[in-house]
Amino acid sequence: MTPLPPIRIAPSLLSVDFSRMAEGLALVERGGADLHHVDVMDGHFVPNLSIGPPVVKCVAKSAKIPLDCHLMVTDPVTYGERFAALRGNLDMGVTFHVEVVQDVAAAAAALRKAGVRPGIAINPPTPVEMLEPALEHVEMVLVMSVHPGFGGQKFIADVLGKVEALRGRYGWTKDIEMDGGIDRRTIASCVAAGANVLVAGTAIYGAADPAAEVGELRRLAEAARR
Ligand code: DX5
Ligand code: ZN
Repeated sequence: MTPLPPIRIAPSLLSVDFSRMAEGLALVERGGADLHHVDVMDGHFVPNLSIGPPVVKCVAKSAKIPLDCHLMVTDPVTYGERFAALRGNLDMGVTFHVEVVQDVAAAAAALRKAGVRPGIAINPPTPVEMLEPALEHVEMVLVMSVHPGFGGQKFIADVLGKVEALRGRYGWTKDIEMDGGIDRRTIASCVAAGANVLVAGTAIYGAADPAAEVGELRRLAEAARR
């Protein structure tokens, strides 16, 4: 059996204190964060606005670890290409939603051409079967464990079945990311189901010691590895 990819902890920038962003990025990097999760919202696909190109440019300048861009927008290729152009020497993944992209093959190919790794995200109400035709085109699946749009929501445990189906029925051995409501109490269930990339916003940036919290979440995730 192919071993699953390593556990990776991805602090979500959405919960950083934006008046001290570079400090926040450096702090979680010191704690051993693997990726910065960058939540991009367009006020259309989700009822909120967040980060756009000027901020991504600043993040790319400060960051020492890869960027994991999560595009909650209706036009992910246009913005994915723009972000790709801002990444400098950093590695970047760009994840778009299965709910908005008709031609996943074309979207993924355009992103690869721009130099970033394509991923596909799925919202809680969307059935896992929707992903089937997309899997051959992407490097990662992001299983949302909240309805996208806001940090600090409650983890939806029902979505764990999708992670199990991807690892079991679909034989998916690449990255599975989970995003939303992940903290010390919920992280083990994500890993036990088969997820390996764990996003946490509130749990990390809201902690008294964000660097230590990255380590604590990693410890709990490694312990839950099956
Ligand atoms: C939700 C975003 C998440 C969010 C997670 O729309 O995709 O990445 O920042 O925040 P927490 O960890 O606070 O649930
Ligand atoms: Zn996200």
